[in-house]
Parts: sequence; structure tokens; C-alpha cells
Amino acid sequence: MALWGGRFESGASSMFKQVNDSLPFDRVMASQDIQGSISWSRALHKAGVLTVDEQQQLEAALSELKAQADAGELDFDASSEEDIHSFVEAALIEKLGDIGRKLHTGRSRNDQVATDFRLWVREHIASLRSDVLGVIKSLLNAASRHQEAIIPGYTHLQRAQPIHFAHWCLAYVEMLKRDLSRLDDLKARMNQCPLGSGALAGTTFPVDRHAIADELGFDSPCLNSLDAVSDRDFVLELLFTASTSMMHLSRLAEDMIFYNSGEAGFLQLGDSVTSGSSLMPQKKNPDALELMRGKCGRVFGSLQALLVTMKGLPLAYNKDMQEDKEGAIDAVNQWHICLCIASEVLDSLQLNEERCRIAAAQGYSNATELADYLVGKGIPFRTGHDIAGRVVLQAIDNGCAIEDLPLSQLQSICDKIEDDVYPVLQLEFGVNQRNILGGTSKETVTKALYQELESLDQELESLDKQG
Ligand code: ARG
Repeated sequence: MALWGGRFESGASSMFKQVNDSLPFDRVMASQDIQGSISWSRALHKAGVLTVDEQQQLEAALSELKAQADAGELDFDASSEEDIHSFVEAALIEKLGDIGRKLHTGRSRNDQVATDFRLWVREHIASLRSDVLGVIKSLLNAASRHQEAIIPGYTHLQRAQPIHFAHWCLAYVEMLKRDLSRLDDLKARMNQCPLGSGALAGTTFPVDRHAIADELGFDSPCLNSLDAVSDRDFVLELLFTASTSMMHLSRLAEDMIFYNSGEAGFLQLGDSVTSGSSLMPQKKNPDALELMRGKCGRVFGSLQALLVTMKGLPLAYNKDMQEDKEGAIDAVNQWHICLCIASEVLDSLQLNEERCRIAAAQGYSNATELADYLVGKGIPFRTGHDIAGRVVLQAIDNGCAIEDLPLSQLQSICDKIEDDVYPVLQLEFGVNQRNILGGTSKETVTKALYQELESLDQELESLDKQG
């Protein structure tokens, strides 16, 4: 049943239907569409458009449809309807006849789709939030399992300074906390209700837009009908949030792929998240991590695609905007999968603490400690830096670590160096010297870890309360 047949003398071509129909993908919003329709029927009743009986019949039929939708029992594939809105309306008319034909009074698919999609995004914000919390939990658990472990810290992928493994975990926790707050910001900004905006200019029927908004869990109605039907900022923000978070997951994946390499050998991944090679029997490949990195492409692409789709559109609704859904649905799906698999990978990892320690101690990563030590002996840092550099050169020449150079050799480079330099050059010393807020010392990292564990508990508790 086309919703707009009256003005047409012949039907749509099959190619037109292929380009125009959105039911193959907007079916995911069936439940939201029905929810919006129930509220709209109540608003129409209060506005004097529907009798109590009509509204009750509509609501009962819609509730039945919703139960079918939630149980996955609606047969979309057998339908030739254009989109989810016409699908639901046709189903209603089939059940109720003329009463079903009254529901669309004062409403347009333009304010309808804008409302449905906001409801859909809002529901996914809630589930994605708990997926992100799941990764935070896995990072904190990994940190807790290896509180003593020290790994090399890198800049330019060159060993720079040793850090606690837990400090590395907590760096990703910070990123994911920002992703959570981006989701919260998105929800706060998008939680306005377009229903009642009609096709573009508002509706002539005196519906209570505040009551509709309230009933559907929005903070308020959208304030301008033109903007309400043509705004897709909330989809863009969702895509940006997904993209940024995918970028974080990709960096996490990249670090772990490197740590897992034969060259580094810092960690092993579980069999459940790796795969073998069809040719080389010895291989155990980090496919889950590679896909976390690889799937960024399509998510970033969807953000870019929608930005381009929206940039030239005149007010108000244009069919171009139907292109907002497939990319967003896919991005949400991929982000969800990647967050879940990130948790699984982190839960499965085994750190080779001994190997990490040896690597952290190599590469002259205690050279900064020597420069700092010289500062303590009254030498300006810049001069100390130069002396430490010459000591490194000497050690390279000898083929040994700085701490393996005899005192006489150290003193030939700088006579301020004494026996008390050796404890300073020990691995733990340098790490634990960084006992400053945000630093990598055992004390700071432990404190940060417990703070994060506590706020995660609080967060999960409040989620439990919300049910
Ligand atoms: N399927 C459409 C979409 O997703 C619904 C809105 C159609 N509005 C219209 N005037 N053709 O954008």
C-alpha cells in the first residue's frame, strides 16, 4: 500500500523501488516506530481528533504489533512496503480498517522518522555505554593481575622510559572514559522530540508536544519544526563518537599486536581470540586485534559519507537523508562487536612479566635517570643530558648497559659521578621516582587503579538500579 497513491496514475518501477525503499534497513526501528505511534495516538485523542474507543483500538493493535516486533515475528521480507512507517501503518489498517487510516492525522513521515531514529540512537547509547564499561573493566582487571609488571614505554617506537603495565592499561581507561562522556553529551543534546513538527511547518492539530516528548522520554520538544525534521546532527555525533572510540580500540590493538609479536614477546593471547594459518602450522595470528584495527575504515567512512550527504541539503527534509541509516546502523554494530572482542582479548591475555622486565631494562632507558642524578650533584640539566649521552655512547662501545660500566669509566666522563649512581640506575628506581600525579610510580599507579575500580563499581551499581 503506497501512502501517497492518490496523485499518481501508474505505479513505481521496480528499479525506483530498489533505490527508494528503506524497509530492508529501517526495519530495525520497528519497535521505536510503534512506540512513537502509540504516543501520537494518545496526543490525537487528547486533541479531540480520536475518540477514546478509536485510540484504545489503535493502542491495542499497536501494542500487539510491538510484541510481534520485539519477538522478531514481523515478516518484513514478504512485504513490498516502502519503509517501516508505511509497513506499520499498513499492518494497522489491515487490523482495524478505517480507524487505522486515522493515525497519520497531522503527522508526516518526516517528523516520524526523525523521532524514530532518535529513539533508536538513544537506546543504543545505553547499550554501547555498557559495552564501553565492559572494556574498562577488562583493562582494570588486566592491570590488577599484573600490578608489579614493568614494560618498556615507547616514543617513536623506540624504548624511551620504563613504565608499569598497569599505567599502560589506565591510559586506555582514560580514553574510554572520554568515549563515555561523549555518549553522555550526545544524549543530552539529542534528547528532544521532533513529533508534532509535521512535514516541515508544524501541525494544525492542537497536540500537546510537551506531553508527547515527556511520554517518549525526551527532555523537551524540538523548538523549530524546520530544524526538527532536517537535523541529523545526532547521527553525525554518534558516528564521530563511534569513530573516535574505534580509533582508541585500534591503538589498543596496535600496541597489543606489537607486544604479542615474536620480536617483543611481551604477551600471549588466548586461543579463543586468535587463529591459525592454513599453510604454516606454527602460526597463531592476532586476528581479533587486526579486525579491531581494520574495522575503523568503514566506521570512519560512514561519518565522512553522512557529512558529505548533509552538506549541501536545502531545508527542510530531502530524501538524501534516508542515507543516514545504513552507515549508522553498521557503525553501531561494528563498534559493539569491537568493544566486546576487546574485552575478550584483554581477559585472555597473559603477560610475560620476565620478558617485559628484561626489555624495559634494555635500550638505555635509564639514561634520563643518570641526567637527573647529575642535576642532584649540582650540574645543570642540559650539561647532565650531554654527559649522560656520552655515557650511553661509551656503554654502546663496550656493548653493555650503563649500570655495567665500571665507576672509573663513568668518572672519566664526569668526576661528579660516584658509587651512589648504581642504585639510581636500577629499573624500579627510575619508575618509582615518577611519583607525581599522572606518573608511573607504583604508588601513583596503584592509587589510580583503585580509584578507577571504585568509580567503575559505582557506575555499575547505578546502572543496576536503573535496571
Ligand atoms: N524512509 C524515509 C527516511 O528514512 C522516511 C521519510 C520519508 N519522507 C518522505 N517525505 N518521503 O528518510
